[in-house]
Amino acid sequence: MSTGESFHSKHAAHYDRGASGATLSIAKIIVRDLPLPITDDSNILDSACGTGLVTAVIKSKYPTARILGSDIAPGMISIYEARAKENNWPSVSSAVLDVRDLKTLEDDTFSHVITNFGIMAPTFQDKEAPLKVARETWRVLKSGGVSIISTWAERNFDKAFEATALTIRPNEQPYSWDIGGDYCRGFYLMKQLEEAGFGSLVEVKSAKGKVEANSLDELVENMMFFKDMFFKGYDDEELARVPDILKEKVKALEKFKQTEDGVEIEMVAWIGVGWK
Ligand SMILES: C[S@@+](CC[C@H](N)C(=O)[O-])C[C@H]1O[C@@H](n2cnc3c(N)ncnc32)[C@H](O)[C@@H]1O
Repeated sequence: MSTGESFHSKHAAHYDRGASGATLSIAKIIVRDLPLPITDDSNILDSACGTGLVTAVIKSKYPTARILGSDIAPGMISIYEARAKENNWPSVSSAVLDVRDLKTLEDDTFSHVITNFGIMAPTFQDKEAPLKVARETWRVLKSGGVSIISTWAERNFDKAFEATALTIRPNEQPYSWDIGGDYCRGFYLMKQLEEAGFGSLVEVKSAKGKVEANSLDELVENMMFFKDMFFKGYDDEELARVPDILKEKVKALEKFKQTEDGVEIEMVAWIGVGWK
């Protein structure tokens, strides 16, 4: 996942806008439905924490919660630290760590490990990545602790990117986030948790999330943060055509909705829970 790593480091400063609330919408559900309540004794790992959205949701409900945020991208960790400082969050620390190998963290340390969209897709270089991530969450959990891992089941907005690319370059296969295989299936997440050591103490459910913005213009502007990924190699003239076409393709999505507050595209996630 070196591409993802460098992509995230480069785009850390724009991450929250680009994500348009997608990961945040699921973070809120995870924290609302925590199977193990957060108490003064809790010790939480926000793994692949990015800019700290999961931590922010936890802190809004449990201001004194003890949380370590870890991410492989130093750019993300800098933003995480700045957010912690700005909000004066007590008991928050951070570390640059690979989700597949949380090497500086000891066994049996945390009550909760939350990996919100940080489990890596299996790549050619590392087919075992998702299992390694699940195993590491199991290792660092205390007995009685919970690991919560989310993945996307249906992102939906990708179809608008693909349709836009095909309009501009009709003869070229558009960039696709679809990594194939079973990675986006619920049973796949369950299998990783089960094999990581959680055995039968595993549950996976689907949850509806969304990307949202105050207007279609704003949503498309946010989506343009990902232009390097979806429209890599496009010249200036082609790139200039993207926003207007993207607007039309977003509007045509089955899951696009105009709401009282703006616009949104529904997404669906898998949330897996494993008890140690
Ligand atoms: C989709 S973002 C999710 C961030 C955050 N959990 C949230 O809910 O917004 C994925 C994050 O995983 C991080 N990441 C990618 N590969 C990683 C790895 N091997 N180890 C740790 N973090 C990784 C990225 O830097 C990025 O911050």
